[in-house]
Amino acid sequence: MSQAQDNSNDPLHAKKKAWSGRFSEPVDAFVLRYTASVDFDKRMALVDIDGSVAHATMLEKVGVISAKDLEDIKRGMAQIREEIQSGKFEWQLELEDVHLNIEARLTALIGDAGKRLHTGRSRNDQVATDIRLYLRGEVDEIIKRVEHLQEVLVAQAEKNYNVIMPGFTHMQVAQPVTFGHHMLAYVEMLERDRARLLDLRHRVNSSPQGSAALAGTTYPIDREYTAKLLGFETVSQNSLDGVSDRDFAIEFCAAASLIMMHISRLSEELVIWMSQRFGFIKLPDRFTTGSSIMPQKKNPDVPETARGKSGRVFGDLMTMLTLMKGTPLAYNKDFQEDKEPVFDAIDTVKDTLRAFCDMMAGVEPQAETMHQAAQMGFPTATDLADYLVRHGVPFRTAHDIVGQTVRAAAERNCGLEQLPLEVLQGFCDKIEPDVYSVLSLEGSVNARNHLGGTAPNQVLAQTKRWEKIFAERAAAKASK
Ligand code: ARG
Repeated sequence: MSQAQDNSNDPLHAKKKAWSGRFSEPVDAFVLRYTASVDFDKRMALVDIDGSVAHATMLEKVGVISAKDLEDIKRGMAQIREEIQSGKFEWQLELEDVHLNIEARLTALIGDAGKRLHTGRSRNDQVATDIRLYLRGEVDEIIKRVEHLQEVLVAQAEKNYNVIMPGFTHMQVAQPVTFGHHMLAYVEMLERDRARLLDLRHRVNSSPQGSAALAGTTYPIDREYTAKLLGFETVSQNSLDGVSDRDFAIEFCAAASLIMMHISRLSEELVIWMSQRFGFIKLPDRFTTGSSIMPQKKNPDVPETARGKSGRVFGDLMTMLTLMKGTPLAYNKDFQEDKEPVFDAIDTVKDTLRAFCDMMAGVEPQAETMHQAAQMGFPTATDLADYLVRHGVPFRTAHDIVGQTVRAAAERNCGLEQLPLEVLQGFCDKIEPDVYSVLSLEGSVNARNHLGGTAPNQVLAQTKRWEKIFAERAAAKASK
């Protein structure tokens, strides 16, 4: 008898490892903790069970295990599922990860049939399957939240389709826009975010199950059948690739980063708009907090937190790229490090979307203040130039004339619309009394009346377009 087999009565070996056959001493306690993943990968427990039941169902179908084994496995797994959901399941660090914890419990419950479950598979394809199943469910939830935020923003746009605010470039007043138009810009961004999630979902939804450790297995498995049971759209076509790439998770982190980047930009605007200097919006109190020392304060904590949290998600993306880049084919233990960044990105983007759905519904634009602010900085100067062009002045000349007009108004400390007609005509004799309709903020926004322009009726047309899209989405969901 060898040393390794000889010490089987040693108390340290009381919890014999699933893989300990060839080892002569137990794993160091610290190394165990350092390499274990159960503390975080237990989040995938329910999909791990789904994957195992599907695998067992396939094994029975192809005749590798008996109908009785399958029945036992299903019964055992149903009990384990119940134990996990009710919080009674005892997770053990010594069992390393979610897979070995569940397998050990299954064997304790049903005996030999539990030991047969791992036939024709490896934890390598098991974990690759689990992370895909888990992520698929979360991607669906995130898509729902993105859609909800779009609906909230469209409702704000509809309510404020003709509320005028200053539009900025370089953070300088540029031209007046409508608040509705501004909200709809974010709806467009979110639509691309949504499309990215839907697109990457196809690549998440491909089954690596059956790749086994790396080369496939000697059993007559039916990979298509297992994939179908698990709702996968496709089956990975190369076992080395199946167990070893995590590009789909990287894509997810990239898509999550873009969502956070968009929300961070909106956050920045909300913070600015809420400041006393701007006073463009009011946020419901429940989204703000006070200061422990300055009693007058109301701080935009939710937008600021979201702006800050974008950094963690970008970090998750960098973590994923970095952990993959130096790994040879096929599986490497490094991949275990994919869970925490992916989970963190999921949690952060979900919570952020949830907060924003609620908060954006409660934003109250301050029309009066925004209108006043839009009058500062000669925002209709371009409109005056366009007016001159319509009266036959070449654009460059018009630009120059308007520049002089702006200087005159600045000297008098008034807006362009407050300059007397004679003064305006002094700069260009083509100017007529109707110029004042062009110089007003309302005239300016109304004049941008084309697809994608800021004119209130264009904004309303866009909100109608979106509502139609939302109705179609709802109908498609209902018919599924
Ligand atoms: N906990 C591991 C992971 O997350 C499971 C796969 C381990 N496979 C192995 N041969 N050590 O990647």
